[in-house]
Amino acid sequence: MAGKGPKDYDDLIVYFEGDYVPWNDAKVHVFAPAVKYGAGIFEGIRGYWSETQGKMLIFRLPEHLARLEYSQKVMRFDRIFRADDVAGPLLEMMRRNKFDQHVHIRPTVYVDGDGEAGSEGPVDVSITAVRRPKKAFTETGCKVQVSSWQRLADMAMPTRVKANANYNNSRMASLQAKNDGYDTALMLNANGHVSEGPGMCFFMIRNGVPITPSITSNILESVTRATVMELLNDEMSLQTVEREVDRSELYAAEEAFFCGTAWEITPVTHIDGLAVGNGEIGPITAKLRDTYFDIAMGAVPDTRGWITEV
Ligand SMILES: Cc1ncc(COP(=O)(O)O)c(C=O)c1O
Repeated sequence: MAGKGPKDYDDLIVYFEGDYVPWNDAKVHVFAPAVKYGAGIFEGIRGYWSETQGKMLIFRLPEHLARLEYSQKVMRFDRIFRADDVAGPLLEMMRRNKFDQHVHIRPTVYVDGDGEAGSEGPVDVSITAVRRPKKAFTETGCKVQVSSWQRLADMAMPTRVKANANYNNSRMASLQAKNDGYDTALMLNANGHVSEGPGMCFFMIRNGVPITPSITSNILESVTRATVMELLNDEMSLQTVEREVDRSELYAAEEAFFCGTAWEITPVTHIDGLAVGNGEIGPITAKLRDTYFDIAMGAVPDTRGWITEV
């Protein structure tokens, strides 16, 4: 039977509830709490194809699978898929797909069955991977709108959890930004401080110092954010300050960038129509971006154990 998915995906194999199945056979019923209430959690993980090594390199897999476990615990699922349970099927799914391009890998753990919003099971897992080149904005930079949609509050939804339902917040901010002619959004939290983008964390450089909103700013505790702080320190001798950031500080920044698995290191050239610095990609951002890609794509040795080969 023909699926609803784009043609590009038709040849792919999905790990689905204990089996490896064709893309179009990985289906959940419309009555499942996963569909009715967004009762699911997920991870986004990058696999980079190294031409020179002829290998697929997965970036920071253990850290993503640890967060997947944490997300399930917080959402009170009655069965927890541990990192060790997920790693094997994820790698086998990757091998079966025989990718030779960069990919985005997505394990999703969700509540199936026919329960209501409070149901804790039955819980199952699926893992997809789709071909995805690096983001074009990493080269061009992006123009950002400070959203009038507030970032979720941790008192309303667990912001550290990669819960599917949380992404309706991201969706509103992204759609507003696009509708108003910007590339993407930056959200403030309920206290009026800068939080994060719809799927990525935020850094700015002021007086040569990297600054990023603290982990108590209602952000997702991002794997890439931790990566960036380590690289700025190790490779550029720059120590990041984690603190609250006011909106008006954004307009004083010399450089700014987003970071995240999907957004990689994306320079921010304009905020609310005002140039960040001179409106060009700044030198710290450019060097960080290039260092990040060199490591993730295997152009330089992985001295930190961040890469899992398929
Ligand atoms: C809301 C949100 N913030 C930040 C990030 C960045 O997190 P990570 O670096 O772990 O991918 C993501 C996911 O990519 C996200 O969805």
